[in-house]
Amino acid sequence: MTAAIEVRQVHKRFGALQALGGVDLEIDTGEFFALLGPNGAGKTTLINIIAGLTLASSGCVRVMGHDVVADYREARRVLGVVPQELVFDPFFTVRETLVFQSGYYGLKKNGDWIDEIIHHLDLADKVDTNMRSLSGGMKRRVLVAQALVHKPPVIVLDEPTAGVDVELRQALWRFIKQLNRNGHTIVLTTHYLEEAEALCNRVAMLKKGNIVALDSIRNLINGISGYLIRLRLSPDTLPAALQPLMSSRDDVYFFLAIKEYSQLEIVMAALRVAQAQILELQVLQPDLEEAFVKITGNAGSPEFLPVSA
Ligand SMILES: Nc1ncnc2c1ncn2[C@@H]1O[C@H](COP(=O)(O)OP(=O)(O)O)[C@@H](O)[C@H]1O
Ligand SMILES: [Mg+2]
Repeated sequence: MTAAIEVRQVHKRFGALQALGGVDLEIDTGEFFALLGPNGAGKTTLINIIAGLTLASSGCVRVMGHDVVADYREARRVLGVVPQELVFDPFFTVRETLVFQSGYYGLKKNGDWIDEIIHHLDLADKVDTNMRSLSGGMKRRVLVAQALVHKPPVIVLDEPTAGVDVELRQALWRFIKQLNRNGHTIVLTTHYLEEAEALCNRVAMLKKGNIVALDSIRNLINGISGYLIRLRLSPDTLPAALQPLMSSRDDVYFFLAIKEYSQLEIVMAALRVAQAQILELQVLQPDLEEAFVKITGNAGSPEFLPVSA
């Protein structure tokens, strides 16, 4: 089977700066894939190379089997990219922008699909508005619409929800999820890890131009973080047998780190033997954010915001 996106040993230098240090990545058709990483990790650079907008210093990229350099036009045709930066022609209306974009792909009778996109992105009452008069959120919607005019089988979205209101975020994800169900491959970068966790099957974590993790979200969360047991005991003493599992404690609770649920039995048995009474016991689920922090060492980094921020 042809991969939707195939990245082979891609390096990118900007003068002395190495933005990508040999990235290998294969994304299957039909995947909903997230590319995560702190600011400056190289996500946009990689996307620009996939889109054929930036030339890799070495290595190669194929989209649906088409080399993005040697086979630029074909690669472009199977790919829709929503760029991170808001770029547009201020003198066109929304509809003109979409019709013009269709023309770029040689699509003359694209009206029905354009109407459908406009409907899903809730742009109907803005179709005749000039781009320059739109709010940032509305411009973002048009950028998404533009990326979709040629119904590309592979859709890449670079921070599509940065600075976007909750309503648009939800409408956008509904639409993108539907496209994914219809067989489109989706790749997205986002600062909102909860978003990636809710939407995507697999993630790559990029750090300083290298992939430091590549797995399903489930595996990343399970494998990297394990679970934390939060325990309140009477008497307020942790049995010696459990000391090796203790990751921390506060005034009330002991926190024990376990790798898998089956270790709960060991904990229970040790408590029984020590005749400790359990006042409270909770297994805390780690999330992608925790896995991310562990893998990239970006604890407390300000650029990762909770989705509600
Ligand atoms: N056109 C450019 N010229 C010089 N340096 C660049 C250019 N584009 C990106 N960079 C640098 O490459 C690194 C990766 O940037 P970028 O791909 O935008 O990261 P991300 O999208 O993950 O935030 C950063 O250090 C950035 O400053
Ligand atoms: Mg970026």
